[in-house]
Amino acid sequence: YVDLGSALDATPGVSRDSLERLDDQVATAHDRIEAGRNDHDHGYAALNLPARVDLDAIRSAVAPFADAEAVLTVGIGGSGLGAATLANALAGPDDPDAYVLDNVDPEHVARLLDSLPLARTAVNVVSKSGTTVETLSNFLVVREAMADAGVDWTDRTLVTTGESGNLRQLADAHDLPLLSVPDGVPGRFSVLSSVGLAVAAIQGHDLDAICAGAADTADGLSGSLFETPAYAYGAATYALAARGATTNVMMPYAERLETFAEWFAQLWAESLGKDGLGQTPARALGATDQHSQLQLYRAGPREKVVTLLRPTHRPDRPIPETDLDGLSYLGGSTLGDLIDAEFGATEASLAASGVPAIRVEIDGVDERSLGALLYGMEAACVLYGELAGVSTFTQPAVEWGKRAARGLLGGGDVPAAEAVEDRASLR
Ligand code: PA5
Repeated sequence: YVDLGSALDATPGVSRDSLERLDDQVATAHDRIEAGRNDHDHGYAALNLPARVDLDAIRSAVAPFADAEAVLTVGIGGSGLGAATLANALAGPDDPDAYVLDNVDPEHVARLLDSLPLARTAVNVVSKSGTTVETLSNFLVVREAMADAGVDWTDRTLVTTGESGNLRQLADAHDLPLLSVPDGVPGRFSVLSSVGLAVAAIQGHDLDAICAGAADTADGLSGSLFETPAYAYGAATYALAARGATTNVMMPYAERLETFAEWFAQLWAESLGKDGLGQTPARALGATDQHSQLQLYRAGPREKVVTLLRPTHRPDRPIPETDLDGLSYLGGSTLGDLIDAEFGATEASLAASGVPAIRVEIDGVDERSLGALLYGMEAACVLYGELAGVSTFTQPAVEWGKRAARGLLGGGDVPAAEAVEDRASLR
């Protein structure tokens, strides 16, 4: 459910009339998206995942890790954030703990490895290209730590990768359980494939429900933003950006969705930040950031839209009765009532000062709702990219940085490395 109400009479704002005019472009963009899906074109193919993902292959690849007490994903960007989003949203008290090793900060790597029960840890190495230096380096360190601890790493490692690259060679050489990244699916659009779902499978979550939620949203895509919540979000954020809302604050009101905001930030930034266009994603958490960032969102520069995201159902807990002076109004309320009141207060506060806000609601933080939310945001992003005319599914700046880092370590791609060194010598 997407409510654009607070984005209509705001500054910057978008009027109902403009949205109606934009709807013709949404219809054209939808036709292009559908054609890309039918032809299985790069990127658009990601929007076919709910129907195409091979859940049995995922279940059998993770079967050897049924005894895992922890699962460590070694992957970065789109190869880590999807798994982390699902794990942090869905993990129950008895599930194996999920960790993602993406950064190569040596102190962090050492601390994490020291804290893990390595003999009972499943290592999920993910890299679509199979060549990403952070992932491969971290994996070599993890492998060595396992060997030092007397653990046979080949018994504890699952590989998810593309059709070629160093990682596939390694998996083949050691006969490791192997999942393929499906064709045509860029990293940041891969959460609904083996890339995001393997950890959910190890944690015992309902993969069918995740895919069913995504399929619900896929089936509902139509050529009008007034009929398709995902397109309403994509079209409104595009129109707002064109009118000056160049920052999009993703503010979930559920601790379990904090990593979702990180996933969204990557999706939005890496897909839409092209040709001098795009919308800078900012991450906030309700109600926590009402006590910090909200001041800026309400009274700072008028270049923002705030996305307020909440589940309409959640496990609740009563606030205990108290006879403390002035607190009697809490009597009979729950923490759920309070967080909903905080949500309503923020929405009202932004509306009172004319800051655009978009309300996004999901039924709960469960498998089906998450599938619908993740797919919906991917569809919104693809629509935004079509309207803006950018190349949504490429990431040349990210690739440049990857090549340059490899080059600086002596791993080839010298031109990029020389450019970095030239730049450094100017300082
Ligand atoms: O969305 C993307 O393409 C990137 O964020 C990649 O997922 C990230 O760079 C990791 O790449 P790879 O999976 O090849 O290791």
